[in-house]
Amino acid sequence: MSAIKINEAVFWVGAMHWDRRLFDELIPLPDGTSYNSYVIKGSEKTALIDTVDPDCEHQLFKNLQQLNIKKIDYVISNHSEQDHSGIIPRVLSEFPQAQLVTNSKAKTILSEHLEIPENKFKIVENQDVLSLGDRKLKFVMTPWVHWPETMTTYLEEDGIAFSCDFFGSHLATSQLFTDRDPKVLRDAKRYYAEIMMPFRNQITRNIAEIKSLNPSIIAPSHGPVYRDPEFIISAYEQWSSDKVLPQVVIPYVSMHGSTARIVDYLVDKFMEIQIEVFPFNITVSDIGEIAMSLVDASTVILASPTVLTVAHPSTFYVAYLLGALRPKTKYIGLVGSYGWGGRMAEVIKPLLANLNAEFLNPILIKGYPRQADYDNLDKLVEMVVAKNS
Ligand code: FEO
Repeated sequence: MSAIKINEAVFWVGAMHWDRRLFDELIPLPDGTSYNSYVIKGSEKTALIDTVDPDCEHQLFKNLQQLNIKKIDYVISNHSEQDHSGIIPRVLSEFPQAQLVTNSKAKTILSEHLEIPENKFKIVENQDVLSLGDRKLKFVMTPWVHWPETMTTYLEEDGIAFSCDFFGSHLATSQLFTDRDPKVLRDAKRYYAEIMMPFRNQITRNIAEIKSLNPSIIAPSHGPVYRDPEFIISAYEQWSSDKVLPQVVIPYVSMHGSTARIVDYLVDKFMEIQIEVFPFNITVSDIGEIAMSLVDASTVILASPTVLTVAHPSTFYVAYLLGALRPKTKYIGLVGSYGWGGRMAEVIKPLLANLNAEFLNPILIKGYPRQADYDNLDKLVEMVVAKNS
């Protein structure tokens, strides 16, 4: 990719990471990702907003060269995670006159992780304004999207909110701009589920901050730039609201088919009564898909066999993720099969203590389910229906 003009003063100079398939050694990236970095040429000063992942630093420097950028006065760091900050030391070395503009929380992180010298920093606070001559940058603190130091930089004259991870999507694409593309919305939802969902309350506050700016453009640091900010803002409002949908997510593992029979029965029952249901065989599922299904669903039913008296390790993994991602799930069920006994509920429940959810009575079955067990599963379905109506 080459530098892309957004307007006469603002240019995208980031990087496309088309073939990256994993982030943080955890998060699948089926569509790759991008690291958006932006140059703003004011009449007096030039600013660079965020940088790129160290794996792609050559792309940023190539783009700066293409734009013939000889001098950078300010490097703005909206977020200290290394996919946006990792090459700041190299940028400061190439442009030694540049000051690193960020907030005090970010300064601590950047100093510790990247060993940036004290005299390079210019610290800003909420609502501070930095002049580039004919253009001004306003800094708006938007903490916990998704680290404590995150902030948004607002280019007032052009109405562009540079929000870094906030509103982003892991999507490498040749189309820098998006309007109302469902593909972008899906990737943004996946991104929200994986990265932002644990911080719903803070996100709600930060959405209000961004809305109060009334931006014409939201330019995040992953994925396309929104020319219609209402598109992504309204989606975020829905995802982060308390409103749930009558959907049932069933992450499951089955070793010898007993738990699979339970899951098949539940899925059929929910389908019969037209409750939307999402079964995921954990051992072959993309955890991003599971996370995405948790954004709106009212109900999660974990289904697991017993291994060494407790749940299957894959069930532990998903239960741990549920506790960490803190979706707005209202009801949690646990079903499964055992051979000679077990403590499945006792060990899984504490992992879900973070969630503000009601734990439904577990249904744990010895071996294959029989009629009495199917009757109990019917009662579980009836209870889920009643709670969702
Ligand atoms: Fe894209 Fe939190 O870094």
